[in-house]
Amino acid sequence: MNTTFGFIGTGNMGGALVRALSKQISPSDIFLSNRTRAKAEALAKETGAQVSDNESIAVSCGYIVLGVKPQMMEETLAPLRPILAARKDAFVLVTMAAALSCRTIQTYAGGEYPVIRMMPNTPVGVGEGVIMYCSTENARSFVPYFAKSFSAAGLVNEISEEFIDAGCVITGRAPAYADMFMEGMIEGARAIGFPEEKIVPFVEQMLLGSAKLAIKTGEDPAALRVKVCSPGGSTIEGVKKLQELDFCGTIKEAALASYKRTLEMKGK
Ligand SMILES: NC(=O)c1ccc[n+]([C@@H]2O[C@H](COP(=O)([O-])OP(=O)(O)OC[C@H]3O[C@@H](n4cnc5c(N)ncnc54)[C@H](OP(=O)(O)O)[C@@H]3O)[C@@H](O)[C@H]2O)c1
Repeated sequence: MNTTFGFIGTGNMGGALVRALSKQISPSDIFLSNRTRAKAEALAKETGAQVSDNESIAVSCGYIVLGVKPQMMEETLAPLRPILAARKDAFVLVTMAAALSCRTIQTYAGGEYPVIRMMPNTPVGVGEGVIMYCSTENARSFVPYFAKSFSAAGLVNEISEEFIDAGCVITGRAPAYADMFMEGMIEGARAIGFPEEKIVPFVEQMLLGSAKLAIKTGEDPAALRVKVCSPGGSTIEGVKKLQELDFCGTIKEAALASYKRTLEMKGK
C-alpha cells in the first residue's frame, strides 16, 4: 500500500494535523501544498515534511488529505479530476471539511473513489485532540493505517457518518466553550486579586486536571462534582450560583444552537 500523505491546504487544521502526523510517521512520507506556498514551506521547515503542489500530491500520494475550507473544495478538486481518473494505483481522499459528505467529495472529485471523512478539533496539534472518522466501504483497507498514523493527535475513533455533524458540535466547536470557561475563571481570579502571573497557568492546569481525573477514574462528572462539594463549604456556594444561572442549561443551548447552524449550512 502507498502510505504517503499529501496535504492540500495547510492552514489551521491541516497544519495541526501535520504536526501530529509527523510525530508518528516519517516526515519524508508527508507532502505539503498550500495556495500561499510560504505557509507550506514554514510548516515543512518545522516538521521535516516536504513541500509539494496539488497536482504532484494527486498523482502520487496514497492518502490525499483535503485541508481547504468547504466552500473551496469543489474548485480545488476540479483541476485534479483528470489526474485522479488516470491513476492506476490505490489512493484514498481524506476530507476534514465540515458538512461535506463522503458522497459530495466523490462528486467533486469526479469518481466513486475511496473516501475517509475525518472531523478533528484544534487540540490535535498538541496531541490531546479528538479525531472522529467514517469511511466509504471501498476505503476500509486504508482505515487501520490512517488511524494508527494519526494516533499522536489524541483520541482517534470511528463513528457512523450520520453522527459526524453532531459529533463536530461536541468536539470540534466545544473547545471554544472550554476557552470561555477559562476566560470566566481568569476574570474571577483577577477580581479576587490573585497574583497575575499565576492566574493563567493555574486555571489551565485546573481544567486539564479535571478532564484527566474524569477519564482516569471513569466517574460521571456529576459524581465528581459532588465529591468536591462539602455541605456548608465554599465550593457548594459557587455551584449554587452556577445552578441559579443555569450554567449546564446554557452550555446545552450553545451546543444546540451550533448544531442548528451546522444543519442550516448543510442546507437541511
Ligand atoms: N478550524 C477548525 O477548528 C476545524 C475543525 C474541524 C474541521 N475543520 C475543517 O478544516 C478545513 C480547513 O479549515 P481551517 O480552519 O484550517 O481553514 P484555513 O486555516 O483557512 O486553511 C485552509 C487552507 O487551505 C489553503 N487553500 C485554499 N485553497 C487552496 C488550494 N486550491 N490549494 C491548496 N491550498 C489551498 C489556504 O491557503 P491560504 O494560505 O492561501 O489561505 C489555507 O491555508 C475546513 O474544511 C474546515 O471545515 C476545521
